[in-house]
Amino acid sequence: TPNRLVLASVKDVPLDDVIAVHVAGHDLALYNVDGTFYASRDLCNHGNARLSDGFLDGDVIECPLHGGCFNVVSGEPCAAPVTHAMVTYSVAVVDDQVVLTAP
Ligand code: FES
Repeated sequence: TPNRLVLASVKDVPLDDVIAVHVAGHDLALYNVDGTFYASRDLCNHGNARLSDGFLDGDVIECPLHGGCFNVVSGEPCAAPVTHAMVTYSVAVVDDQVVLTAP
């Protein structure tokens, strides 16, 4: 389908971990939360840090730089110093690949 962009193979995203994905000129963080996949913009919206370098604990990603965190499902911030939601993307698994679905 034209609106489908492959982010990764399912097997390339370790369980309960996060990887960086570069696709179509964008940097995304791709999360595997207990077998369900979520994606967000990789750059933290507080400063110059990549969330893919952070620590995924359940469905919360902790930024590696100042300890801010976001819920990867809703995008909502959950600890200072981050104050607003991160940009998230809808993904789906099709044929063992994690794909970006149309916004
Ligand atoms: Fe992420 Fe500051 S850069 S919390």
